Amino acid sequence: MKTTRLYLFLTIFSTIALLVDTDESVTAAVVIGIGATLGWTMYKYSHESCDSSWIYFNATALEADLESKLFGQHIASSIILKAVNGFMKNENPQKPLVLSLHGSTGTGKNFVSKLIAENIYKEGMDSRFVHVFTSTLHFPHPSQYLTYKSQLQQWIKGNVSNCERSMFIFDEMDKMHPDLIDSIRPYLEYYDKLDGVSYRKAIFIFLSNSGGENITRTALNFWKDGRKREEIELKDLETMLTLIVFNDNQGGFFRASLIDKNLVDFFVPFLPLEFSHVVQCALAEMRARRRKPDMDVADKVAKDLVYFPETERVFSVKGCKTIVSKLDYYT
Ligand SMILES: Nc1ncnc2c1ncn2[C@@H]1O[C@H](COP(=O)(O)OP(=O)(O)OP(=O)(O)O)[C@@H](O)[C@H]1O
Ligand SMILES: *[C@@H]1O[C@H](CO)[C@@H](O)[C@H](O)[C@H]1NC(C)=O
Ligand SMILES: *[C@@H]1O[C@H](CO)[C@@H](O)[C@H](O)[C@H]1NC(C)=O
Ligand SMILES: *[C@@H]1O[C@H](CO)[C@@H](O)[C@H](O)[C@H]1NC(C)=O
Ligand SMILES: [Mg+2]
Repeated sequence: MKTTRLYLFLTIFSTIALLVDTDESVTAAVVIGIGATLGWTMYKYSHESCDSSWIYFNATALEADLESKLFGQHIASSIILKAVNGFMKNENPQKPLVLSLHGSTGTGKNFVSKLIAENIYKEGMDSRFVHVFTSTLHFPHPSQYLTYKSQLQQWIKGNVSNCERSMFIFDEMDKMHPDLIDSIRPYLEYYDKLDGVSYRKAIFIFLSNSGGENITRTALNFWKDGRKREEIELKDLETMLTLIVFNDNQGGFFRASLIDKNLVDFFVPFLPLEFSHVVQCALAEMRARRRKPDMDVADKVAKDLVYFPETERVFSVKGCKTIVSKLDYYT
């Protein structure tokens, strides 16, 4: 804002200088003019704005990221690529994109949201147009949901008015008050415009642990039958996820009418992670720290985690979540 004012001031100043019309002031005006243009360009270059120089989707890069950085989530990976790609390519979407990511702890739900943000917004998660709401942090007191409700609606409306390509991530959706969830429903609908604001280019991502246990049971059944993890298909989980979503009568998420109106475009299951994925997570973390990947350390870190069921020890209880602190311990 300050820079804008400075630019205006300089423009007026150089115009006056030109009007005075002596040789010296012409030179001064030219110098100042050049300075102002330069300043303005730099301002535009360094200040994130809602246009294609800061917001552009690169499908190839998202695919490469999902392929090389996300481990053990073949179903999530393919749904997300197709969903985001289809939505971003559509010049005139009918409704905002709504994704609901489900799975047990540490399986990569927040991580995937970050990958999506990074491949749409130049500034990634630091973008002014990406908003994360965590139930226990932003809406901690159930008794105050009425206040939260109007606040949240104002935020969504204000931010989408600012930039139609806004992204909203709702973490711990299963701990959110049902009425609060209901209050965001209008923004997810097939409205052309709501109070003069169009929400059709926005992206909503819901994260929760609901359905995690049932997804895990399916994965375990496949394992017990000696079938490959990659053989698990969306259809093995989809019906179950919808059933859980419909029948769950504690989680606010599901009492809310998001589901029966088909406002959620994709339910995305995250599978529990196995030992080999934990090893990959440890190696990836070493690379991220610009260290030489050390297989022995990765193996030690992975062996330190707790696996279940108690006898077979197939899946990591906390997914890849505690890798960072374990790595600090070993190196
Ligand atoms: N499938 C995965 N592939 C690669 N890295 C992963 C994966 N899952 C988790 N990680 C790593 O573990 C960290 C923690 O995972 P993340 O925060 O995404 O879990 P989550 O699914 O959101 O869990 P929670 O339900 O507890 O919030 C990530 O930052 C990432 O580094
Ligand atoms: C998209 O990403 C790929 C892979 O990272 C890169 O090679 C390509 O140049 C990018 N394209 C654009 C238009 O930025
Ligand atoms: C946008 O959302 C943020 C929360 O992420 C909020 O603090 C801010 O006030 C909102 N902006 C507008 C214009 O409503
Ligand atoms: C999900 O798991 C619960 C037990 O944790 C079970 O009672 C329920 O039937 C399962 N739902 C489906 C649809 O499989
Ligand atoms: Mg999370």
